[in-house]
Amino acid sequence: MSGRAKLPLAVTVEITSLTADGFGEGCVEGRRVRLRNALPGETVEGQLFKRRKGYWLGEAGRIVGAPSTARVPAPCPVAARCGGCGFQHVADEQVLAAKAQELRALLDVHEVHVERWLAPVAGPRLGYRRKARLGVRRVGEKVFVGFREALSGRVVDMTDCAVLDPRLAALVAPLREVLGQTSIAGLIPQVELAAGDRSCAIVIRHLTAFSSEDLVLLTNFAVARNVAVYLQGGGEDSVAQLAGPRAPLGYANPDFGLHFEFQPLDFVQVNAAINRRLVRSAVMALAGTRRVADLFCGMGNFSLPLARSGIAVAGVEAGGNAVDRARHNAVHNALADKVDFSVADLYEPDCVPAAVTAADALLLDPPRTGAGANLPAWLHAGVERVVYVSCNPVTFAADAAVLAAAGFQLAQAGVYDMFPQTAHVETLGVFRRVRGAG
Ligand SMILES: C[S@@+](CC[C@H](N)C(=O)[O-])C[C@H]1O[C@@H](n2cnc3c(N)ncnc32)[C@H](O)[C@@H]1O
Repeated sequence: MSGRAKLPLAVTVEITSLTADGFGEGCVEGRRVRLRNALPGETVEGQLFKRRKGYWLGEAGRIVGAPSTARVPAPCPVAARCGGCGFQHVADEQVLAAKAQELRALLDVHEVHVERWLAPVAGPRLGYRRKARLGVRRVGEKVFVGFREALSGRVVDMTDCAVLDPRLAALVAPLREVLGQTSIAGLIPQVELAAGDRSCAIVIRHLTAFSSEDLVLLTNFAVARNVAVYLQGGGEDSVAQLAGPRAPLGYANPDFGLHFEFQPLDFVQVNAAINRRLVRSAVMALAGTRRVADLFCGMGNFSLPLARSGIAVAGVEAGGNAVDRARHNAVHNALADKVDFSVADLYEPDCVPAAVTAADALLLDPPRTGAGANLPAWLHAGVERVVYVSCNPVTFAADAAVLAAAGFQLAQAGVYDMFPQTAHVETLGVFRRVRGAG
């Protein structure tokens, strides 16, 4: 297979391993290839579409011979192409075991020892996703509303979704129809869907103004579907509600007698059941501490349960809107005297908020980029414990090495299945300062 071979290229590949993002990997004439929807132990016919540095990328078609014993029928008809999932064709236990193995391997690379591995925590495997950004694309007379295809980035032609909260999935087909009827159907790049416990919202991003007829159509849609419809003509501060229920979105955390309110574009942990497990574990792991700095606190998802359990909490977060919501949620749950929230860019050089200086424990829940370069400066001698919630095992493992170098032992670690059917790995790590070290 020449490096200049014309694409797409038909190949037959013996798959020998599975990549962390769910591609089956093998070799063709000495070149590494990765095929979506292929599993180790299988020989598959496939098409290569793209060259990447060090490998070629494509899609598997027919399986030659026996399929892998790990293979299961995908619940969704577009699973093979849709970038919303990557593992629907693999048994859940195998995926979760692979995620745990990936975490172990990354910690090994950084020579971080785990005292106790937690059993992987699983929840609902379908219908769990309460937040999603879907692309919108006009194709001739039709409008597609869907996730993007894994390889091409095109919007998937879908009318339902197995992983979305069923209330959101039920909006996909009617949204296609109503957006297709508007005068600016080709100028709507995306929609954001959000589900609270009692109501749902849609934010429609549009590149030019809707006509007054369009606004009537969308208003009727909002009323008929009982969904809050917001329009977003520019940046996030341009978001304004057009129609539908006015009550804010919200979710309960009954374990702590809490109710959170949020706006449709706010960060919210996508999987309610796993979020509850994660919050419970984090609070248990911080029992006995007195002052916790909750860094990257969002709207207080961890801060308020910690405060409810009697710990003084100071949350820090870059998003001003999220901090407003956190403060509102603290008041709304009668916890305003137990928590303090402030806005700071925690990646700003030398950012060590007062919340950190006063803390005897940290809770870190950063974006995929990890805790950032200030982490060593946060680990002052008074910090005894660090609970780290991560959505990226690569940065988690690198930060775990920073914590180890500062004298912390990784007492417990484990994966939480926040994103079943996808390659995303959510991790909880509990670090304790080793006496006499650091
Ligand atoms: C994974 S979310 C966690 C939010 C919250 N802990 C929760 O459970 O809902 C990461 C949070 O980090 C915030 N963030 C991103 N970059 C930041 C920065 N440079 N400084 C502070 N916070 C940041 C995001 O706004 C987001 O709320």
